[in-house]
Amino acid sequence: MKLLLASALLAAVTADRADDLVSSMTLEEKISYLGGRGMGTYPEDGWYVGTVYALDRLDIPALLYNDGPQGFRDDARPGTTTAFPSGLNIAATWDTEMAALWGDKMGKEFFDKGANVMLGPGLNVARVPVNGRNFEYMSGEDPVLGATLVPHVIEKAQAHKILANAKHWVNNNQETNRGSMSSNVDERTRYEMYYPPFQAAIDAGVGSFMCSYNKINHVYSCENPETLLTDLKGNMGFEGYVMSDWGATHSPSLMEGLDQEMADSDFMNFDNLKDMPIENIDASVKRILKPFIDVGAFDITENEQADRSIYNNVTNDEHFQAARTIAANSHVLLKNDNDVLPLGADFWNSDINVAMFGTQAASPAIGGQGSGRVDAAWTPSPLDTFKARAAGGDYGADSDKVSYYGDPMSDDDIAEMKDAAEAADVCFFWLSTMSGEGGDRDSLSLDNDVHVASVAEHCKKSVVVVTTPGAALLPWSDAVDAILVNFMPGCASAFATMDVVLGDVNPSGKLPITFPATENQEGFTEIQYPGLDDAENVTYTEGWSFGYRFYHQHQENPNFFFGEGLSYTTFDLIKATVSGQSIKVGLKNSGKATGSAVPQLYLQMPEECDEPLWMLKKFAKVSIDAGEETIVEFDLTDRDLSIWDVDNDVFEKCTGDATVRISFSANFNDDGSYIEKELTIV
Ligand SMILES: *[C@@H]1O[C@H](CO)[C@@H](O)[C@H](O)[C@H]1NC(C)=O
Ligand SMILES: *[C@@H]1O[C@H](CO)[C@@H](O)[C@H](O)[C@H]1NC(C)=O
Repeated sequence: MKLLLASALLAAVTADRADDLVSSMTLEEKISYLGGRGMGTYPEDGWYVGTVYALDRLDIPALLYNDGPQGFRDDARPGTTTAFPSGLNIAATWDTEMAALWGDKMGKEFFDKGANVMLGPGLNVARVPVNGRNFEYMSGEDPVLGATLVPHVIEKAQAHKILANAKHWVNNNQETNRGSMSSNVDERTRYEMYYPPFQAAIDAGVGSFMCSYNKINHVYSCENPETLLTDLKGNMGFEGYVMSDWGATHSPSLMEGLDQEMADSDFMNFDNLKDMPIENIDASVKRILKPFIDVGAFDITENEQADRSIYNNVTNDEHFQAARTIAANSHVLLKNDNDVLPLGADFWNSDINVAMFGTQAASPAIGGQGSGRVDAAWTPSPLDTFKARAAGGDYGADSDKVSYYGDPMSDDDIAEMKDAAEAADVCFFWLSTMSGEGGDRDSLSLDNDVHVASVAEHCKKSVVVVTTPGAALLPWSDAVDAILVNFMPGCASAFATMDVVLGDVNPSGKLPITFPATENQEGFTEIQYPGLDDAENVTYTEGWSFGYRFYHQHQENPNFFFGEGLSYTTFDLIKATVSGQSIKVGLKNSGKATGSAVPQLYLQMPEECDEPLWMLKKFAKVSIDAGEETIVEFDLTDRDLSIWDVDNDVFEKCTGDATVRISFSANFNDDGSYIEKELTIV
């Protein structure tokens, strides 16, 4: 009660303070907040990607924005920040603790670099598997996955007196023609499939949003009154401010819901805005200032401020170790025939010979390209990490237990590689592909993987490690013993993979996106992707039916389903009981190692709700000791049991007979892979 009162009081005080500041400003000062001052203009020899100058007269510090969603990108001083695992890796952890750790460490680095807005996290729900930016997004292909994880990132990052930024609002689901295309998507699909992670960020108090390059229903995102005013600031209750993506402003869009143009003020400038209604100008300035006041960004002590600088080197061993922990927990073990993994703690003590294939072993890709890129201070390679471990020495120690045949992996080398494979006790194939902002992937194939199956045939044990910005085709799956996927795993990935293959970390990551068996297995037609007429119109005719929901609806099998991922132990679903909207699930660790299970609750709405597909509604990550049992309780909220009512603009509980399935993935094909229960919604 006291606490509630105190926070209500605080909210009132910060609102008053924002009002006071606004009312003390001249019109010119007010409008100076509604557009940026260019990239890299502050400090002169330094580098922030977005700036609004300080207003010394009122003691308001400069607003300093920086990329990006997987760490602080400092192009001028590469190697001074931590290249954290990507947003998609956070989705792959299915773990709120990992989301919190990521938000905490990234927030600290942004603060120490002197910035006060972190341009992340990325929250878009993955629609097409080839989207070049899927790696940046922490929702994977499911709104509930993103919505469950994102509050932990926002709360931890903003505790460092900086703002987080929810992006890219909205339906920026492809990079192809992103600056001209229109995502044509109906209201119900937007609210049910694409908005929930953004709503969760709002509910967690996120201070800022970034509107996207694309159009939604033929109107540019940053001048779209339906998505900005009716949806975001209206129905969804967002009280912070909306900045445009860099160059995504096309008009002085104050009245359409844009608060701030970035990075310049080509449209949102004094000449264009001075005659607009002062209430709207004041409201936008207040929306901008209040979140900074709320998180304490305008109350940094002189001592604190003295330690903050763009010139700082803010990475350190603690942050490297955090990146390692997150990366290890995001590894998804898709296959492990004959329990070839883990190799075991004593592995390197024995007289063994490991052969490594693929250039990724020596010069690893660790993050996607574009504004979300981070140049790591140190990127240990798998090759040198394994060698050092084999030698029992520090990084740099050599060992003849590990040999490398990766460069180049061409037809000429095949005979040599087969010999090496035969001589090795274990073969490791390090495969990767890359993507980035501004373009989609040409295909889901990995680079240079044509010889994997023919070489693996000669191996006693074969392990493939896949580094990918999204879904990937794994045509050699049947020919290898073990497959580990680590997405865009960040600077510490070699250590993290080592932790997993030795068994120091029991893998508990699950796929946040379905891995198709073939290119475009979902059969996107041109009208859906990349769009008709030079991709001007991209129409979301599939509604909810993308990702695992598509495979369910069409009874097709992908290569690996959303939610799949093995452990070094096994888990059983013992039973489930339903009481009202609460479902209790009994789980048992039926194997020999401690491990974390991720029970998932999928719900099929009553028929009359016109939402026929299984939808993830809840999940949990629970550590269980070998042989032990535990009970997980899922409490479905009314919102979980609701559909978007387009007539009344609210989520309406949909009553009737629903069905729930508790499982360890969206793959319902195997016998005993789920428990099904009826649930009556009243
Ligand atoms: C920043 O600090 C890290 C950790 O101490 C160090 O490894 C790295 O070399 C430093 N970066 C630069 C550019 O000096
Ligand atoms: C895209 O759709 C809009 C609205 O239906 C239409 O006016 C426009 O001509 C379409 N664009 C193209 C290139 O067909």
